[in-house]
Amino acid sequence: MKFRCCLWGLALAFALGTPGACAAQTLRQAAGKIGLLVGAAANPDLFSEAAYSQTLARQFNMIEPENAMKWRATEPKEGVFEFRAGDAIVAFAAAHGMKVRGHNLLWGRYNPAWLTQGRFTPEQLRAIMKRHIQTVVRHYRGRVFAWDVVNEAFDRKGRLRHTIWYDRPGIGLAGKGTAYIAQAFRWAHEADPHALLFYNDYAAEGINAKSDAIFAMVKEFMREGLPIAGVGLQMHVDSQAEAEANVAANMARLEKLGVEVQITEMDVALPRNGEGKARQSALAWQAKVYRRVALACAADPGCTAFETWGFTDRYSWIPRHTHGEKGAALLFAADYKPKPALGAVLDAFAQALGKNPEIRQERLRFERKVEGAVREGVIPSAVSAPPGN
Ligand code: XIL
Repeated sequence: MKFRCCLWGLALAFALGTPGACAAQTLRQAAGKIGLLVGAAANPDLFSEAAYSQTLARQFNMIEPENAMKWRATEPKEGVFEFRAGDAIVAFAAAHGMKVRGHNLLWGRYNPAWLTQGRFTPEQLRAIMKRHIQTVVRHYRGRVFAWDVVNEAFDRKGRLRHTIWYDRPGIGLAGKGTAYIAQAFRWAHEADPHALLFYNDYAAEGINAKSDAIFAMVKEFMREGLPIAGVGLQMHVDSQAEAEANVAANMARLEKLGVEVQITEMDVALPRNGEGKARQSALAWQAKVYRRVALACAADPGCTAFETWGFTDRYSWIPRHTHGEKGAALLFAADYKPKPALGAVLDAFAQALGKNPEIRQERLRFERKVEGAVREGVIPSAVSAPPGN
Protein backbone atom coordinates (compact mmCIF):
# COMPACT_ATOMS: atom_id res chain seq x y z
CA MET A 1 0.00 0.00 0.00
CA LYS A 2 1.25 3.40 -0.97
CA PHE A 3 0.21 5.00 2.29
CA ARG A 4 2.12 2.45 4.41
CA CYS A 5 5.08 2.60 2.13
CA CYS A 6 5.14 6.31 2.68
CA LEU A 7 4.98 6.00 6.44
CA TRP A 8 7.78 3.45 6.48
CA GLY A 9 9.81 5.30 3.93
CA LEU A 10 9.63 8.45 5.96
CA ALA A 11 10.32 6.69 9.26
CA LEU A 12 13.36 5.08 7.68
CA ALA A 13 14.46 8.35 6.16
CA PHE A 14 14.27 10.11 9.52
CA ALA A 15 16.05 7.24 11.29
CA LEU A 16 18.89 7.20 8.76
CA GLY A 17 18.88 10.90 8.07
CA THR A 18 18.70 10.15 4.35
CA PRO A 19 15.82 10.41 1.92
CA GLY A 20 14.02 7.07 1.59
CA ALA A 21 12.21 5.87 -1.52
CA CYS A 22 8.83 7.30 -0.58
CA ALA A 23 10.22 10.37 1.18
CA ALA A 24 11.10 11.60 -2.31
CA GLN A 25 7.42 12.49 -2.65
CA THR A 26 7.07 16.25 -2.31
CA LEU A 27 4.20 18.18 -0.77
CA ARG A 28 3.43 19.49 -4.21
CA GLN A 29 3.11 16.03 -5.72
CA ALA A 30 0.99 14.76 -2.85
CA ALA A 31 -1.27 17.81 -2.98
CA GLY A 32 -1.63 17.48 -6.76
CA LYS A 33 -3.19 14.04 -6.32
CA ILE A 34 -5.95 15.47 -4.16
CA GLY A 35 -6.44 18.70 -6.12
CA LEU A 36 -5.23 20.84 -3.23
CA LEU A 37 -3.14 23.98 -3.31
CA VAL A 38 -0.22 23.76 -0.93
CA GLY A 39 1.45 27.07 -0.30
CA ALA A 40 3.89 29.06 1.74
CA ALA A 41 4.40 32.70 2.56
CA ALA A 42 7.65 33.91 1.03
CA ASN A 43 10.03 36.82 0.94
CA PRO A 44 11.53 37.77 -2.44
CA ASP A 45 14.73 39.06 -0.80
CA LEU A 46 15.57 35.42 -0.08
CA PHE A 47 15.15 34.08 -3.62
CA SER A 48 18.90 34.45 -4.17
CA GLU A 49 19.49 31.77 -1.54
CA ALA A 50 19.54 28.55 -3.56
CA ALA A 51 18.21 26.24 -0.84
CA TYR A 52 15.36 28.67 -0.18
CA SER A 53 14.24 28.94 -3.81
CA GLN A 54 14.72 25.26 -4.55
CA THR A 55 12.72 24.09 -1.54
CA LEU A 56 9.95 26.58 -2.26
CA ALA A 57 9.62 25.65 -5.94
CA ARG A 58 9.94 21.91 -5.37
CA GLN A 59 7.55 21.57 -2.46
CA PHE A 60 4.80 24.10 -3.11
CA ASN A 61 2.36 24.94 -5.89
CA MET A 62 1.24 28.25 -4.37
CA ILE A 63 3.07 31.23 -2.97
CA GLU A 64 1.94 34.24 -0.95
CA PRO A 65 4.00 37.35 -0.22
CA GLU A 66 4.71 37.53 3.50
CA ASN A 67 4.91 41.33 3.37
CA ALA A 68 5.54 42.38 -0.23
CA MET A 69 1.93 43.19 -1.15
CA LYS A 70 0.94 44.83 2.11
CA TRP A 71 0.11 48.52 2.16
CA ARG A 72 3.42 49.68 3.63
CA ALA A 73 5.23 47.90 0.80
CA THR A 74 2.93 48.79 -2.10
CA GLU A 75 2.08 52.41 -1.33
CA PRO A 76 5.03 53.71 0.72
CA LYS A 77 4.21 57.30 -0.18
CA GLU A 78 0.77 58.73 -0.81
CA GLY A 79 -0.26 57.86 -4.35
CA VAL A 80 3.17 56.38 -5.18
CA PHE A 81 2.95 52.66 -5.85
CA GLU A 82 5.85 50.25 -5.56
CA PHE A 83 5.45 46.84 -7.14
CA ARG A 84 9.00 45.53 -7.45
CA ALA A 85 8.89 43.10 -4.52
CA GLY A 86 5.39 41.88 -5.38
CA ASP A 87 6.38 41.49 -9.02
CA ALA A 88 9.32 39.31 -7.97
CA ILE A 89 6.88 36.98 -6.22
CA VAL A 90 4.70 36.81 -9.33
CA ALA A 91 7.73 36.17 -11.58
CA PHE A 92 8.96 33.38 -9.30
CA ALA A 93 5.51 31.79 -9.34
CA ALA A 94 5.30 32.02 -13.14
CA ALA A 95 8.75 30.47 -13.54
CA HIS A 96 7.79 27.52 -11.36
CA GLY A 97 4.15 26.97 -12.30
CA MET A 98 2.78 28.20 -8.97
CA LYS A 99 -0.33 30.21 -8.14
CA VAL A 100 -0.09 33.52 -6.26
CA ARG A 101 -2.33 34.28 -3.30
CA GLY A 102 -2.42 38.04 -2.67
CA HIS A 103 -2.13 39.35 0.90
CA ASN A 104 -3.57 41.83 1.77
CA LEU A 105 -5.53 44.87 0.64
CA LEU A 106 -6.85 46.26 3.92
CA TRP A 107 -5.62 45.82 7.47
CA GLY A 108 -5.37 47.90 10.62
CA ARG A 109 -1.63 47.11 10.78
CA TYR A 110 1.45 47.29 8.59
CA ASN A 111 0.29 50.61 7.19
CA PRO A 112 2.70 53.40 6.25
CA ALA A 113 3.12 56.40 8.58
CA TRP A 114 1.82 58.83 5.96
CA LEU A 115 -1.48 57.01 6.19
CA THR A 116 -1.75 56.36 9.92
CA GLN A 117 -0.57 59.82 10.89
CA GLY A 118 -2.12 61.73 8.02
CA ARG A 119 -5.22 63.00 9.86
CA PHE A 120 -7.38 62.40 6.82
CA THR A 121 -11.12 62.98 6.77
CA PRO A 122 -13.48 60.04 6.10
CA GLU A 123 -14.05 61.37 2.56
CA GLN A 124 -10.32 61.49 1.92
CA LEU A 125 -9.79 58.02 3.41
CA ARG A 126 -12.56 56.63 1.26
CA ALA A 127 -10.81 57.91 -1.87
CA ILE A 128 -7.41 56.70 -0.62
CA MET A 129 -8.78 53.24 0.13
CA LYS A 130 -10.51 52.91 -3.23
CA ARG A 131 -7.44 54.03 -5.15
CA HIS A 132 -5.17 51.68 -3.23
CA ILE A 133 -7.35 48.60 -3.58
CA GLN A 134 -8.06 49.19 -7.24
CA THR A 135 -4.50 50.13 -8.24
CA VAL A 136 -3.02 47.06 -6.58
CA VAL A 137 -5.67 44.62 -7.75
CA ARG A 138 -5.54 45.99 -11.30
CA HIS A 139 -1.76 45.72 -11.38
CA TYR A 140 -1.95 42.02 -10.53
CA ARG A 141 -5.10 41.27 -12.50
CA GLY A 142 -4.89 37.80 -14.00
CA ARG A 143 -1.70 37.01 -12.09
CA VAL A 144 -2.96 36.90 -8.52
CA PHE A 145 -5.82 34.40 -8.40
CA ALA A 146 -7.05 35.19 -4.89
CA TRP A 147 -6.84 38.13 -2.48
CA ASP A 148 -7.17 38.55 1.22
CA VAL A 149 -9.26 41.67 0.80
CA VAL A 150 -9.65 42.45 4.49
CA ASN A 151 -7.42 41.06 7.21
CA GLU A 152 -8.17 40.70 10.92
CA ALA A 153 -11.17 43.01 11.23
CA PHE A 154 -12.67 41.32 14.32
CA ASP A 155 -11.44 41.01 17.90
CA ARG A 156 -11.71 37.84 19.98
CA LYS A 157 -15.17 38.76 21.19
CA GLY A 158 -16.41 39.07 17.63
CA ARG A 159 -16.61 42.86 17.72
CA LEU A 160 -15.19 44.95 14.92
CA ARG A 161 -11.76 46.27 15.77
CA HIS A 162 -11.29 49.99 15.95
CA THR A 163 -9.18 50.81 12.92
CA ILE A 164 -8.48 53.67 10.58
CA TRP A 165 -10.80 52.01 8.04
CA TYR A 166 -13.71 51.34 10.36
CA ASP A 167 -14.08 54.17 12.84
CA ARG A 168 -10.75 55.96 13.43
CA PRO A 169 -12.12 57.86 11.66
CA GLY A 170 -13.25 55.31 9.03
CA ILE A 171 -14.40 55.81 5.46
CA GLY A 172 -17.77 57.25 6.40
CA LEU A 173 -19.27 53.94 7.53
CA ALA A 174 -18.29 54.04 11.22
CA GLY A 175 -20.87 52.30 13.38
CA LYS A 176 -22.37 50.60 10.32
CA GLY A 177 -20.95 47.16 11.13
CA THR A 178 -19.30 45.34 8.27
CA ALA A 179 -20.33 47.90 5.62
CA TYR A 180 -16.74 49.09 5.15
CA ILE A 181 -15.62 45.50 4.59
CA ALA A 182 -18.36 45.02 2.00
CA GLN A 183 -17.16 48.19 0.29
CA ALA A 184 -13.61 46.85 0.09
CA PHE A 185 -14.91 43.68 -1.57
CA ARG A 186 -16.92 45.66 -4.12
CA TRP A 187 -13.96 47.79 -5.12
CA ALA A 188 -11.66 44.78 -5.38
CA HIS A 189 -14.22 42.94 -7.50
CA GLU A 190 -14.57 45.90 -9.86
CA ALA A 191 -10.81 45.90 -10.39
CA ASP A 192 -10.59 42.17 -11.13
CA PRO A 193 -13.91 40.35 -11.49
CA HIS A 194 -12.08 37.02 -11.78
CA ALA A 195 -10.08 37.21 -8.57
CA LEU A 196 -11.32 35.13 -5.67
CA LEU A 197 -11.90 37.44 -2.75
CA PHE A 198 -11.28 36.28 0.81
CA TYR A 199 -11.78 37.51 4.33
CA ASN A 200 -8.81 36.37 6.47
CA ASP A 201 -8.41 36.19 10.26
CA TYR A 202 -6.77 34.33 13.16
CA ALA A 203 -8.18 32.62 16.24
CA ALA A 204 -11.37 32.00 14.29
CA GLU A 205 -10.52 28.49 13.13
CA GLY A 206 -12.86 26.63 15.45
CA ILE A 207 -16.28 27.65 16.71
CA ASN A 208 -16.06 30.71 18.94
CA ALA A 209 -17.31 34.30 19.23
CA LYS A 210 -14.97 35.53 16.50
CA SER A 211 -15.78 32.80 14.01
CA ASP A 212 -19.49 33.28 14.77
CA ALA A 213 -19.13 36.94 13.77
CA ILE A 214 -17.28 36.02 10.58
CA PHE A 215 -19.91 33.41 9.76
CA ALA A 216 -22.67 35.98 10.26
CA MET A 217 -20.84 38.43 8.01
CA VAL A 218 -20.35 35.89 5.21
CA LYS A 219 -24.00 34.89 5.46
CA GLU A 220 -25.03 38.52 5.12
CA PHE A 221 -22.65 39.09 2.18
CA MET A 222 -24.00 36.01 0.40
CA ARG A 223 -27.54 37.19 0.97
CA GLU A 224 -26.66 40.50 -0.63
CA GLY A 225 -24.85 38.90 -3.56
CA LEU A 226 -21.45 40.29 -2.58
CA PRO A 227 -18.57 38.65 -4.41
CA ILE A 228 -16.94 36.84 -1.48
CA ALA A 229 -15.33 33.55 -2.49
CA GLY A 230 -13.88 32.36 0.75
CA VAL A 231 -12.63 32.65 4.27
CA GLY A 232 -8.97 32.30 5.23
CA LEU A 233 -8.26 30.58 8.52
CA GLN A 234 -4.78 31.69 9.51
CA MET A 235 -4.06 28.86 11.98
CA HIS A 236 -1.19 30.30 14.00
CA VAL A 237 -1.08 27.67 16.73
CA ASP A 238 0.76 27.96 20.00
CA SER A 239 -1.33 25.86 22.31
CA GLN A 240 -3.17 22.61 21.97
CA ALA A 241 -6.55 24.04 22.88
CA GLU A 242 -6.59 26.37 19.92
CA ALA A 243 -5.56 23.78 17.40
CA GLU A 244 -8.07 21.14 18.23
CA ALA A 245 -11.48 22.59 18.69
CA ASN A 246 -14.08 22.23 15.96
CA VAL A 247 -12.10 23.30 12.92
CA ALA A 248 -13.93 20.83 10.69
CA ALA A 249 -17.30 22.02 11.99
CA ASN A 250 -16.43 25.65 11.36
CA MET A 251 -15.23 24.84 7.85
CA ALA A 252 -18.41 22.91 7.16
CA ARG A 253 -20.74 25.70 8.22
CA LEU A 254 -18.89 28.25 6.06
CA GLU A 255 -18.87 25.94 3.05
CA LYS A 256 -22.59 25.39 3.42
CA LEU A 257 -23.02 29.10 2.77
CA GLY A 258 -21.26 28.55 -0.57
CA VAL A 259 -17.74 29.79 0.12
CA GLU A 260 -14.37 28.06 0.09
CA VAL A 261 -12.14 27.80 3.11
CA GLN A 262 -8.35 27.96 3.02
CA ILE A 263 -5.78 27.41 5.74
CA THR A 264 -3.68 30.49 5.05
CA GLU A 265 -0.91 30.99 7.61
CA MET A 266 -0.34 27.83 9.58
CA ASP A 267 2.57 27.57 11.97
CA VAL A 268 2.94 25.80 15.29
CA ALA A 269 5.21 27.73 17.64
CA LEU A 270 7.30 25.67 20.07
CA PRO A 271 9.18 26.74 23.20
CA ARG A 272 12.92 26.98 22.58
CA ASN A 273 15.85 26.09 24.80
CA GLY A 274 18.96 28.23 25.29
CA GLU A 275 20.34 27.20 21.89
CA GLY A 276 17.11 28.22 20.25
CA LYS A 277 16.07 24.60 19.65
CA ALA A 278 12.80 22.76 20.34
CA ARG A 279 12.64 19.46 22.25
CA GLN A 280 12.00 16.17 20.42
CA SER A 281 8.72 15.68 22.28
CA ALA A 282 7.58 19.13 21.18
CA LEU A 283 8.44 18.32 17.56
CA ALA A 284 6.35 15.17 17.82
CA TRP A 285 3.40 17.12 19.27
CA GLN A 286 3.81 19.67 16.50
CA ALA A 287 3.65 16.92 13.88
CA LYS A 288 0.35 15.73 15.37
CA VAL A 289 -1.14 19.21 15.20
CA TYR A 290 -0.06 19.64 11.59
CA ARG A 291 -1.42 16.20 10.73
CA ARG A 292 -4.84 16.92 12.17
CA VAL A 293 -5.22 20.30 10.50
CA ALA A 294 -3.84 19.07 7.17
CA LEU A 295 -6.24 16.13 7.25
CA ALA A 296 -9.23 18.29 8.16
CA CYS A 297 -8.45 20.41 5.11
CA ALA A 298 -7.32 17.72 2.68
CA ALA A 299 -10.35 15.50 3.34
CA ASP A 300 -12.81 18.36 2.91
CA PRO A 301 -13.64 19.27 -0.72
CA GLY A 302 -14.49 22.83 0.37
CA CYS A 303 -11.00 23.45 1.77
CA THR A 304 -9.03 24.46 -1.30
CA ALA A 305 -5.59 25.43 0.05
CA PHE A 306 -3.27 24.47 2.85
CA GLU A 307 -0.63 27.10 3.44
CA THR A 308 2.09 27.72 6.03
CA TRP A 309 3.50 31.09 7.11
CA GLY A 310 6.97 30.55 5.69
CA PHE A 311 8.42 27.07 5.30
CA THR A 312 11.84 26.98 6.94
CA ASP A 313 12.56 27.67 10.60
CA ARG A 314 15.48 29.74 9.35
CA TYR A 315 13.04 32.49 8.41
CA SER A 316 9.88 32.64 10.45
CA TRP A 317 8.16 35.56 12.10
CA ILE A 318 7.60 33.58 15.33
CA PRO A 319 10.92 34.21 17.17
CA ARG A 320 10.58 37.96 16.67
CA HIS A 321 6.88 37.93 17.41
CA THR A 322 7.42 36.03 20.71
CA HIS A 323 10.54 37.96 21.75
CA GLY A 324 12.70 34.91 21.21
CA GLU A 325 10.69 32.58 23.41
CA LYS A 326 9.24 30.43 20.68
CA GLY A 327 10.23 29.19 17.27
CA ALA A 328 10.72 26.03 15.20
CA ALA A 329 7.18 26.52 13.94
CA LEU A 330 7.40 25.34 10.34
CA LEU A 331 7.76 22.16 8.25
CA PHE A 332 11.47 22.44 7.39
CA ALA A 333 14.29 22.96 9.88
CA ALA A 334 16.64 25.93 9.70
CA ASP A 335 18.97 23.82 7.51
CA TYR A 336 15.99 22.93 5.24
CA LYS A 337 15.88 19.31 6.44
CA PRO A 338 12.36 17.89 6.70
CA LYS A 339 10.90 17.87 10.22
CA PRO A 340 8.47 15.26 11.55
CA ALA A 341 5.70 17.76 10.78
CA LEU A 342 6.46 17.48 7.05
CA GLY A 343 6.00 13.71 7.14
CA ALA A 344 2.76 14.24 9.04
CA VAL A 345 1.34 16.59 6.40
CA LEU A 346 2.35 14.18 3.62
CA ASP A 347 0.64 11.36 5.50
CA ALA A 348 -2.49 13.46 5.95
CA PHE A 349 -2.66 14.16 2.19
CA ALA A 350 -2.20 10.44 1.44
CA GLN A 351 -4.80 9.52 4.04
CA ALA A 352 -7.35 11.91 2.52
CA LEU A 353 -6.89 10.14 -0.81
CA GLY A 354 -7.10 6.71 0.82
CA LYS A 355 -10.35 7.66 2.52
CA ASN A 356 -11.90 9.15 -0.58
CA PRO A 357 -10.39 8.36 -3.99
CA GLU A 358 -12.76 10.93 -5.52
CA ILE A 359 -11.54 13.81 -3.36
CA ARG A 360 -9.72 15.57 -6.20
CA GLN A 361 -12.78 15.65 -8.45
CA GLU A 362 -15.01 16.67 -5.56
CA ARG A 363 -12.74 19.59 -4.70
CA LEU A 364 -12.62 20.68 -8.34
CA ARG A 365 -16.41 20.58 -8.49
CA PHE A 366 -16.70 22.68 -5.35
CA GLU A 367 -14.21 25.22 -6.70
CA ARG A 368 -16.02 25.43 -10.00
CA LYS A 369 -19.30 26.11 -8.23
CA VAL A 370 -17.91 28.89 -6.05
CA GLU A 371 -15.82 30.44 -8.79
CA GLY A 372 -18.67 30.25 -11.27
CA ALA A 373 -20.95 32.15 -8.90
CA VAL A 374 -18.34 34.85 -8.28
CA ARG A 375 -17.51 35.25 -11.94
CA GLU A 376 -21.11 35.41 -13.04
CA GLY A 377 -21.09 38.67 -11.13
CA VAL A 378 -23.92 38.35 -8.70
CA ILE A 379 -22.82 41.70 -7.36
CA PRO A 380 -25.54 44.32 -6.87
CA SER A 381 -25.61 47.09 -9.44
CA ALA A 382 -25.47 49.89 -6.85
CA VAL A 383 -21.80 49.23 -6.32
CA SER A 384 -21.06 51.96 -3.87
CA ALA A 385 -24.16 51.76 -1.70
CA PRO A 386 -23.44 50.33 1.75
CA PRO A 387 -25.45 47.22 2.61
CA GLY A 388 -28.86 47.95 4.04
CA ASN A 389 -29.29 51.11 1.97
C1 XIL B 1 3.61 39.25 9.67
C2 XIL B 1 4.95 39.02 8.99
O1 XIL B 1 5.26 37.67 9.05
C3 XIL B 1 6.02 39.86 9.63
O2 XIL B 1 7.24 39.76 8.90
C4 XIL B 1 5.58 41.32 9.70
O3 XIL B 1 6.52 42.06 10.42
C5 XIL B 1 4.21 41.46 10.35
O4 XIL B 1 3.29 40.62 9.68
N1 XIL B 1 -1.18 37.66 10.40
C6 XIL B 1 -1.06 38.09 9.10
C7 XIL B 1 0.29 38.28 8.51
O5 XIL B 1 -2.06 38.22 8.40
O6 XIL B 1 0.31 39.29 7.56
C8 XIL B 1 1.32 38.54 9.57
O7 XIL B 1 2.60 38.58 8.95
C9 XIL B 1 1.26 37.48 10.65
C10 XIL B 1 -0.08 37.49 11.32
